[in-house]
Amino acid sequence: MRRKIVAGNWKMNGSKDLSEKLVGYVQAEAGSLDNGVEVVIIPPAIYIRDVLRQAEGAVSVGVQNVGQWQSGAYTGEISSEMAKDAGCDYVLVGHSERRQIFGETDELVAEKVALVVASGLTAIVCVGETLEERESGLAESVVASQVRLGLSAVSPGDWKNIVLAYEPVWAIGTGKTATAEDAQAMHASIRSVLKEMGAPAEEISLLYGGSVKADNAAALFSESDIDGGLIGGASLDAKEFISICRYFPASS
Ligand code: 13P
Repeated sequence: MRRKIVAGNWKMNGSKDLSEKLVGYVQAEAGSLDNGVEVVIIPPAIYIRDVLRQAEGAVSVGVQNVGQWQSGAYTGEISSEMAKDAGCDYVLVGHSERRQIFGETDELVAEKVALVVASGLTAIVCVGETLEERESGLAESVVASQVRLGLSAVSPGDWKNIVLAYEPVWAIGTGKTATAEDAQAMHASIRSVLKEMGAPAEEISLLYGGSVKADNAAALFSESDIDGGLIGGASLDAKEFISICRYFPASS
């Protein structure tokens, strides 16, 4: 059975006040979700403790990035061991903003994924094509390559700690969402790449991200290969975020 996950990536947003109010609301509502969705909050690392305290175990917590080392003289970095020590379960790896703004390559993504799974945490590995790549008909091949290279160091026993998030770059923060059909087609393609790699593809959760809102979540989540969402802007609004979690069909 694949995990059903709705994760909120706060990016560089939030405050102690938001951590208290938003997580307090989400924590209170998460208990009444009856569709088996695991709710994950991924705040800036400096608020992890606040979020964990407020969450009282009702939601899981993740970090948005880790360094490619476990410790040492790397000012400003945190490691996956530290994320685990602090009480996190998830680490985002290779978000398109990390790739585009900070120059992260597929090779670096692979190194980080290896460290994350070695720490016993689950890596949410982000992939997705740009608008130019989609318009040139390259979307599937670009994403397939990101999957193959980014997951090249995963050993057979570690697939259980891998989640993928398909986030088309042109849909992030733009209000443009992939249609449910297009997202489903890409998820099916990703699952077939995972199969070719020898991974237990049917067991690996594939999340969709990119302008997911309460009014488009139901259509996306009803697709057979979409196992949840990675939510940016809408995860900063407690009611909207919980509405998205509720849209997950109980039967899938
Ligand atoms: P938006 O939901 O704001 O488009 O962001 C998606 C995203 O990048 C989540 O990681």
